[in-house]
Amino acid sequence: MSPRRRPPDQTIVIFGASGDLTSRKLVPALYALHRDGLMPQEWKVVGYARTPRTDDEFRSDMRSAVEQLPEFEDASWRTFAPRLNYVTGTFAERKAMAHLERELNERDAPPRRLFYCGTPPSAFEQIVRRIGEEQLQHGASIVVEKPFGSDLASARRLNTLVHKVFSEDQVFRIDHYLGKETVQNILVFRFSNGMFEPIWNRRYVKSVEVTVAEADGVGHRGSFYEEAGALRDIVQNHILQMITILGMEPPISFDPEALRDEKAKVLAAVRPVDPAYVVRGQYDAGRVGRSTVTGYRQEQGVSARSQVETYVAMKLWVDTWRWAEVPFYVRTGKRLPRRVTEVTMSFHDAPHILFRQGRPSTNYLTIRIQPDEGIRLSFDAKSPGPDMRITPVDMEFSYSRWFDVEPPEAYERLLRDAMLGDHTLFPRADEVERSWEVLGPALEAPPRLRRYAAGSWGPDAADALIEPGRWRLDGR
Ligand code: BG6
Repeated sequence: MSPRRRPPDQTIVIFGASGDLTSRKLVPALYALHRDGLMPQEWKVVGYARTPRTDDEFRSDMRSAVEQLPEFEDASWRTFAPRLNYVTGTFAERKAMAHLERELNERDAPPRRLFYCGTPPSAFEQIVRRIGEEQLQHGASIVVEKPFGSDLASARRLNTLVHKVFSEDQVFRIDHYLGKETVQNILVFRFSNGMFEPIWNRRYVKSVEVTVAEADGVGHRGSFYEEAGALRDIVQNHILQMITILGMEPPISFDPEALRDEKAKVLAAVRPVDPAYVVRGQYDAGRVGRSTVTGYRQEQGVSARSQVETYVAMKLWVDTWRWAEVPFYVRTGKRLPRRVTEVTMSFHDAPHILFRQGRPSTNYLTIRIQPDEGIRLSFDAKSPGPDMRITPVDMEFSYSRWFDVEPPEAYERLLRDAMLGDHTLFPRADEVERSWEVLGPALEAPPRLRRYAAGSWGPDAADALIEPGRWRLDGR
């Protein structure tokens, strides 16, 4: 993984620059890198999109977005803004990008290019074709947003097309979960400490739970979400990637390929999901916190008869020596009671029931990916007093309390790594294809769609998946 060094001089061309991702994530992340002195010596950003805009209009739109950051500083904005440029253009038709190279040269853009596809996935193929037509790929890299394809066949097609224009070492497939500090910390937690790895296996771990819960609905992304659903939007990428990090063997080094080889092995061992162990749900109107919210089918851009899942829970198996017979319970949903991403490992009961008398084990390790980032170890302790009374207690590590900072945005890390050419945190072609293969049975024969009220923890049927009938996180 990259030490603190500056990436080589380059131009970042963002396709789809009038979209939400550019103003919400990409430009704020680039601004933060600039402010922290982590951008190249010479660099430019060129936004490219269909909506006609001047450089100044683009800068002023981006300023409105970046100003929202608590750490916004006018002085660093003034040195940042002049490097933002905008080129109007399309990519659907042949030769639609014939003017791009000329525009870049007119703006004295550094010759090394990082192309960023911040467009809806349907435009990605067109962008790659246009880049190929103009021969812009030489010495360049391309960053692609998820979802990469919508099933195994389309992901394979896309990889074949990409590899006609770019070699694999020029391609960076984004999964922003890998850019999260707390996900990277799983590697440090496991492989920099001698005391956890010996128990990180089937002999000690009873089950693993992964929850990615969101309080938000689909917002204005309804039409995108209608093509995706929770399986494609979160499970295929974020959740399966977290499972690779949790489940992998120690890599022989932190060389990107050594790490990605180990991750790919985990995916190869994940049993293709059995639809009998999948629960799909869609939210109806309800209350989340203090707000009354509409149902998914009433959201903008969503069909009134939509069969798309906004919730999915499933039981997975990782058929390796380390994890044989250990269930991995995973779930994700929109309009759940709160935003929380957590991994919980449950440990087997103590072998000799001296104290517990019928009570299940309270030994858990909880990795809080977000918010309130941290790690909690739960175990039994003796309550003060004359009797042998036992109470579950927690040992806590909190990022913000220990380091006195909030973890940086995932996109900062990933953009910088892409500029540096470091692939460690980017899924490889084979990982992406295998992830689609694992989900294939549920995509081809989706189990029936159940209803859940917004603000609940999803359909009751999800509780029946899990032993002992209750997800650890719910606290209900
Ligand atoms: C994106 C999904 O990849 O991740 C969104 O497309 C989702 O639907 C988002 O809301 C969640 O990301 P985070 O970082 O807020 O957990």
